[in-house]
Amino acid sequence: MSHFMWVIQLIYVLAASCFVLGLHLMNTPATARRGNQVSTGGMITAVAATLAIIVHADVISTTGWIVMFAGAAVGAAVGLYTARTVQMTAMPQLVSIFNAVGGGAAALVAVHDYMRLTGQVSAHVPTATTVTTLLDVIIGSVTFSGSIIAAGKLQGVITSAPVTFPGARIVNLLLAAVALAVSGYLIATPSLAGLVIVIVAALAFGVSMVMPIGGADMPVVISLLNAFTGTAVAMAGFVIGNWALIIAGALVGASGGILTKLMADAMNRSIRNIIVGGFGTGDSAVAVGGPAGNVQSIAADDAAIQLAYASKVIIVPGYGLAAAQAQHEVAALAELLESRGVDVSYAIHPVAGRMPGHMNVLLAEANVPYPQLKEMDEVNPEFARTDVALVIGANDVTNPAARRPGTAISGMPILDVDQAKSIIVIKRSMGHGYAGIDNELYVNPKTSMYFADAKTALADLAAAVKTLVG
Ligand code: TAP
Repeated sequence: MSHFMWVIQLIYVLAASCFVLGLHLMNTPATARRGNQVSTGGMITAVAATLAIIVHADVISTTGWIVMFAGAAVGAAVGLYTARTVQMTAMPQLVSIFNAVGGGAAALVAVHDYMRLTGQVSAHVPTATTVTTLLDVIIGSVTFSGSIIAAGKLQGVITSAPVTFPGARIVNLLLAAVALAVSGYLIATPSLAGLVIVIVAALAFGVSMVMPIGGADMPVVISLLNAFTGTAVAMAGFVIGNWALIIAGALVGASGGILTKLMADAMNRSIRNIIVGGFGTGDSAVAVGGPAGNVQSIAADDAAIQLAYASKVIIVPGYGLAAAQAQHEVAALAELLESRGVDVSYAIHPVAGRMPGHMNVLLAEANVPYPQLKEMDEVNPEFARTDVALVIGANDVTNPAARRPGTAISGMPILDVDQAKSIIVIKRSMGHGYAGIDNELYVNPKTSMYFADAKTALADLAAAVKTLVG
């Protein structure tokens, strides 16, 4: 290896170290922003090193440079604009589109390299290159088409209900078999036509894998596709011999895999079912009847009395808080209660909202102190000694129906809100949450329903507490 390439490889290792450090800093919200900056620095360094290789090798024509920079400029502009303007509630769709372009780009890198190698006179492609190329093409193509379908379902462009037909699993297996069999053939005999068959089968598999998945299970599938994207990128790194790509891809693949496991556990889904297919169509078919019992409603003044004279309050944020954009109002109310000596904390369910970490991001935006955010396992034992559980726009993650079989959310761990001495639920109606089932919590004799938009309700509550305490 030349002296120049040694330096480049060292720079790649430096960039990869930034990715590892950045990921580590993202462990806690307090350092997450810095983690993002360190990772961005690593990516800029890796891109600069790659550009240095291209200049040094002098292999690109002027037109090539123009095409490359024009593509990067358009991609960066679109990425920057969408990331800055996207609504928090549409974040899962955006992540899904990013997964699609990541997987698609990784597959294209492999296809290009394969075409270059098979186009050579001797047409000899080393086996190791063929294997990594094929893995990259298969995983990247599945991720590309699967992520587009997932984004379409989340955006409502495609029905979020599971789409399935008799024999769907056999079609899935056939597509997988075609992709693998033709890949096996390609290891011995390089062929562009064969590669096209693999790509088409993998793209079709991505579609047929995600179509039968119901909307409620989509977070797990997006996380899984994110892990696929990382794996495809790592394979692309092997294909073109780029350390930074291998390490960055492996990090995304591993962290996406861990997140998938955590999400699957939090939603009581098995990863095996996700991969085999038909996932999300099983035990979620049975809906419960309307909750039997009386619904008590409460107005701002009475709710304010309960909160102001409590010694411990746990706030349970859910999707409705995000939809109402009421994060600043909830932070202000919590601060007001704390100033009166009330012990306030927030119970964060792993799938509250519509994306992993949704509530953390939302509350961080309103500068809620991180130590006040408590994860489900930590906070659940605390509900029994809580005076008021204030549930804001959260529904499924508090539904006791999860504790018995035969419902759409059976087995999903929930926040034990019903253990609190008193429960106040802010939402606009008796309407359902994401899983589409009634919530038995609302007819619990300890529960009072505060029917209003979360933002308005929280502002009114804060005003009522202020009036109370002068
Ligand atoms: P949900 O069960 O979806 O319930 C949200 C509730 O918010 C609704 O019942 C709605 O009732 C209320 N709401 C909506 N807009 C409101 C507003 N402006 N003001 C006050 N309330 C409002 O939310 P959750 O408890 O957070 O559970 C999340 C669900 O989404 C789970 O089923 C989870 O599996 C699923 N999911 C999660 C993710 C991730 S990764 N977090 C991704 C996709 C799906 P009203 O209409 O009566 O107001």
